[in-house]
Amino acid sequence: MNSEPLKFAQKIVLEAGSILRDALCRKVNCDYKNGDHRDLCTEYDLKIENYLISNIQKQFPAHKFVSEERENNDCLEGLVWIIDPIDGTTNFVSWQKCFSISLALYKDSKPLFGLVYDVMQDDLYLGIAGQGAYLNGKKLKRLGKTELKECILDASLNSIQIFYNKHNIKVFNLAKDIRGHRSCGAASLAICKIALGELHIYISAKLRAWDFAAAGIILNEVGGYYNSIFDDCLDLTGKPTVFMACSSKDIYNEIIQSISGENLLCFCSPPIK
Ligand code: IPD
Ligand code: CA
Ligand code: CA
Repeated sequence: MNSEPLKFAQKIVLEAGSILRDALCRKVNCDYKNGDHRDLCTEYDLKIENYLISNIQKQFPAHKFVSEERENNDCLEGLVWIIDPIDGTTNFVSWQKCFSISLALYKDSKPLFGLVYDVMQDDLYLGIAGQGAYLNGKKLKRLGKTELKECILDASLNSIQIFYNKHNIKVFNLAKDIRGHRSCGAASLAICKIALGELHIYISAKLRAWDFAAAGIILNEVGGYYNSIFDDCLDLTGKPTVFMACSSKDIYNEIIQSISGENLLCFCSPPIK
């Protein structure tokens, strides 16, 4: 792989992070998307997206983009950057920590590399397809075997409710099989924490490409597994998908068994509308 885009991406992601740290010293303007008080968009989601895209466009004019705040995303042919300018906007606004900038480069829908920058921790996660994953330049170890009873699961209350109301899946029943539950509020960071061995399962009823495109590469490089639960493969254009990431494919399969109970058929049939 040509290392130029990766070096450039690392530089602009760190610069964008310092813009966000400065922003937290000021009052940040925030809107609701489609009038939903749970779906925030700040002036900085737009500023950071614009900062990343305009810089990449200057350097690599032929490259394309799929990015959260864009009206019209490009198709997936060729070199495509998949961007979440702020993942965890609620945390950015309410906690001023636990949010990331997520940037990945794909070629013809195949991953090349992904960067997840935990802005307030100043932690930069990197995954290079086929070449390993790194945290601040230090190679991450491959994940060891974990039993379900040792696992910590991350899911939002919103997702747990959608799983039950829309798909008739009782994610909350996993409480008896696992060690515990946490909700960090930023999908990309939750998936990176699986890569570190701090979490083991991340489940979401509604995840989009920019939430997992970079972190998924990092997880894959340490032997973790992620996929869409109902669809054959993950959508990279930004359509919502029912998603699960785990520290291994064995845990993924065990969770599917556990939440579907005796009725495995519910995973083969379309979700209840
Ligand atoms: C959200 C966060 C959140 C997840 C949502 C995402 P955003 O991204 O990753 O943890 O539960 O599904 O949409 O809106 O902060 O970029
Ligand atoms: Ca996101
Ligand atoms: Ca976002």
